[in-house]
Amino acid sequence: MLVQTDKKDKIAVITVNRPDALNAMNFDVISELTRAITLAVADSDIGVIVLTGAGKKAFVAGADIKVMQKFDKEGAKEFGKLGHTLASAIENSPKPVIAAVNGFALGGGCEIALACHIRIASDNAVFGQPEVKLGLIPGWGGTQRLPRIVGKGIAAELIITGRNIDAEDAYRIGLVSQVVPLDSLIHSAKKIAHLILKNGPNAIASSLDQVNLSAGSSLEEGLEREVQAFADLFETDETREGLKAFVEKRPPEFR
Ligand code: CAA
Repeated sequence: MLVQTDKKDKIAVITVNRPDALNAMNFDVISELTRAITLAVADSDIGVIVLTGAGKKAFVAGADIKVMQKFDKEGAKEFGKLGHTLASAIENSPKPVIAAVNGFALGGGCEIALACHIRIASDNAVFGQPEVKLGLIPGWGGTQRLPRIVGKGIAAELIITGRNIDAEDAYRIGLVSQVVPLDSLIHSAKKIAHLILKNGPNAIASSLDQVNLSAGSSLEEGLEREVQAFADLFETDETREGLKAFVEKRPPEFR
């Protein structure tokens, strides 16, 4: 299996499992990963998804270069769109997706991590958009999501130099929110997941939606959408329970 899912305690750990090729993504990996994400999103027993790579060396070392070598323009467009579909499935998931980056996250691998809602890295992680070295540009969202996360100047520098950065630099520029030893990476991702799981699932989904929509709209439009979504929650049992539990000095019981 090129993609493996392990479910426990409402957390799905999805592992890209092609370590011999540093988890590089060919058509089969893309298709299996898209399916695994879709299944986890639809699974009512799952509240948070953790995405990682098999082995100690790579999260995902990019799109499969050997596959790309055979593309004409149409093939490249199809491959780019498949990557976009996968990245959108991750980004638009109402359940938070945490990238646990355990080594190389290069090219398409970095782009898949960029689509996740949270990124944490092991101390051996390496990030980069090296596509220009291949005479390419990032094709799975890197030109759009990287500037939105780290700012236009740093994104442009990373993309046009194609240079790699280590985990500490990734932390410094806000690309990841934690750097931890490799051995405790999944444990750390699960710790974040358990904090999230205490909260209301509707509120989490609505928050992710608003954060996603914040890019590409004016402040006024965003605030208008936010107040609507804020008000909508007052028609849910979840919000009533959350507010009631605080007043009654007890933990909320969210379903
Ligand atoms: N595609 C296909 N195979 C890959 C790969 C990739 N992106 N990355 C690594 N591999 C394969 C290697 O070909 C090698 O396979 P063989 O043993 O069959 O030769 C195996 O994984 C191990 O890799 P290395 O021997 O190269 O390992 P290393 O430790 O010496 O180097 C590395 C590691 C620096 C990550 C190096 O493998 C590398 O530079 N990989 C390519 C990274 C890259 O350019 N990624 C971007 C791809 S383009 C893209 O993703 C486009 C897009 O935006 C969608």
